[in-house]
Amino acid sequence: MIGTANGYHVPITGLGAHVPERVVTNDELAGLVDTTDEWILTRTGIRERRVAAPEEALSDVCLPAARGALRAAGVEAGAIDLLIVATVTADMAFPSTAAILADILGAHEAAAYDLSAGCTGFMYALAQAYGMLAGGLSRRALVVGGDVLSKLMDWHDRSTMVLFGDGAGAVVLERVERGGFLGFELGADGSGGPDLYLPAGGSREPASAQTVAEGHHYIRMNGREVFKFATRILVSSAQQLLDECGVAVEDVDVYVPHQANVRIIEHARRKLGIPSERTVVNVDRYGNTSSGSIPLALADAVKDGRLKQGELVLMTGMGAGLTWGSALIEWTQEEGVAA
Ligand code: ACO
Repeated sequence: MIGTANGYHVPITGLGAHVPERVVTNDELAGLVDTTDEWILTRTGIRERRVAAPEEALSDVCLPAARGALRAAGVEAGAIDLLIVATVTADMAFPSTAAILADILGAHEAAAYDLSAGCTGFMYALAQAYGMLAGGLSRRALVVGGDVLSKLMDWHDRSTMVLFGDGAGAVVLERVERGGFLGFELGADGSGGPDLYLPAGGSREPASAQTVAEGHHYIRMNGREVFKFATRILVSSAQQLLDECGVAVEDVDVYVPHQANVRIIEHARRKLGIPSERTVVNVDRYGNTSSGSIPLALADAVKDGRLKQGELVLMTGMGAGLTWGSALIEWTQEEGVAA
């Protein structure tokens, strides 16, 4: 799916982010499995990640981010009429984490649902909220991207447990006079599904003593295949969207790629021709936070002063599905990351 924004001005008017308190360093992981700080750092660029406490669920991590976004936008929860949570680690299969959050926040007028598109979830959710706002169905949307993948991790599997971290970000979208999204490109290739999946707990393989004993409730990943997919798709998705919107890559002020691996990010930015100083990288501090990755990176770019009003931002996500998604936006927020 690809399209430009048809003249409707829907920007991000508020942004919030939150990560759990507990920092887990590479050295700490090296005490659990056969790995080293040096291996993790050179192969992934990750130094540390945040891990939710045993009693912390996704909604607990999303709540401060959501409140921060509302505060930054100056919007009361009661004025939100659409609440989407992009995640693969919902509090439970149902009710949706979005419905749980809506209740806690007091967003009683909101349609609320979760969206599953792997690490690309936040990009899909942005496009959906844009469509509902541009179509006149929604006036103010709250889009949350977050995951607590630590809960789905086999802490004995060195090939996955070093990569991921927990975190969430949230944005408020409203229709205004100028700026906002220029276009989106989204896609999925289900044939790559087996490269990144969680075998049990769904209707294909319901939970049983056997699925637990065999470790089927943990993430399975073919790292090399996902790596190849990621390096290809981050480039092609961004290039297609830039072409569709008639924007030259030199005009991109801030590039926010999915934070999975610094080698993937480096490859994509070089191929696209985006200088490193315009590229946001925080995978060293958070690891891969899945749907939290892009909003957390946006929040960092606002905090460090790189993301200012009037600037053109290119974001691209990719993940389980396999899925991908890019968005171009003219940033309109003057200030305000609340968390
Ligand atoms: N510590 C030490 N050695 C390790 C570790 C570790 N933590 N993990 C794997 N190794 C070993 C492997 O066993 C292998 O050993 P072998 O050669 O004896 O078989 C060796 O290191 C090299 O393994 P590779 O898989 O070739 O390592 P690579 O350089 O490809 O890096 C990595 C692996 C980091 C997983 C990389 O493939 C990658 O980043 N892939 C993309 C993953 C990703 O982005 N996933 C998330 C997608 S988004 C979503 O939806 C969640």
